[in-house]
This record gives sequence, C-alpha cells and structure tokens, in this order.
Amino acid sequence: MYRSVLIAHSLGRWLVLVAGATVVFVETSRLWSGKPWAPIGPQLGRVFRIVVDVQVMTGAALYLLLSPLTNVVLSTTMTRLPSNSDAQFFSVVHPVIMMASFIGVHVSSMMIRRGRNDASRHRRSIMFYGVVLLLVLYGIPWWRL
Ligand code: HEM
Repeated sequence: MYRSVLIAHSLGRWLVLVAGATVVFVETSRLWSGKPWAPIGPQLGRVFRIVVDVQVMTGAALYLLLSPLTNVVLSTTMTRLPSNSDAQFFSVVHPVIMMASFIGVHVSSMMIRRGRNDASRHRRSIMFYGVVLLLVLYGIPWWRL
C-alpha cells in the first residue's frame, strides 16, 4: 500500500506541473491573440485544481498514515529533527509549501473569476497560477526522482 501510494504521489508531480504549465502557456497565447477566456480558461483551471487536490490527498495519506518518515515525527512530537534531514523536510517544509499551493490554487480561481473582463481574467490566470506553479516547483524534492 505504502509503495503504491508513494509511486502515485511521485508520478502525480508531473501531472501537476504539466497542468500548471499548460494553463499558464495557453492563457498567455490567448491573451496575446485576443481570444475569449471561456470556455478554455475555466476548463484548464479546473483540471489544474483537480490534479493539485488529488496530489494533496495522496500526500495527506502518506503524511498521516503511511510514510515511515513522518510517522516517526507524529508519534514523538517533542523530538528535535536534525536540520536538513529528509524527516524534517517531509514533516514540515514540504507539507507547508504544498498546502500553501493548495490554498493558492483555489484562491486563484476565485480571483480570476472576479476579473473585470477577459483580458484581466487571462492576466490574472497567468499571474496567480504562475505563482502557484513556482511554489510547487520549489516544494518538490527534486533529489528524489
Ligand atoms: C502539489 C502538491 C504536491 C506535490 C507536487 C508533491 C510531490 C512529492 C514528491 C515528488 C515526493 C517524492 C516521492 C518519491 O520520492 O517517490 C513527495 C513525497 C512526500 N510528500 Fe508530497 N507533494 C505534494 C503535496 C504533499 C502534501 C500536501 C503532503 C502532506 C500533507 C505531502 C506529503 C509527502 C510525504 C510525507 C512524502 C514522503 C513520503 C515518503 O518518502 O515516505 N505531499 N511529494
């Protein structure tokens, strides 16, 4: 069980990155060519949110139930974690950054919908989803492929 969820979570990073990069790229090209925001913009945004949601769910399962790295920490809350260790990264740094991305992707969608016109919605999509994408890129443990 642990092994399969970890593999799904590891592969899920690519879905998140491809979905995020696609929405930013397509929104940029639609802004430049003066195309309308709907229906493509909302659809790509929904796909990005869904893959982030699924990734957060598998991450939470690892964190709370399956991963030996974080189980040690959860069962001994007073333990001082060695800095720069995998245990510290996966117990604190990675979940905090990724939960910020999760909140960010949902707040982005609200902010984009509130844009005054299509050009503003395109610009907001590029900016907000772009920041979420950078946050995810920063939070990924690239030393574990
Ligand atoms: C967009 C969101 C996320 C992405 C892209 C992501 C990506 C990754 C990647 C690439 C790994 C390494 C997998 C491997 O070595 O095979 C990993 C591990 C891990 N992630 Fe995430 N993650 C996300 C969200 C989360 C969240 C929200 C949590 C916790 C609430 C979480 C908890 C973990 C844990 C505990 C591990 C280590 C598991 C282990 O080695 O035992 N992740 N994540």
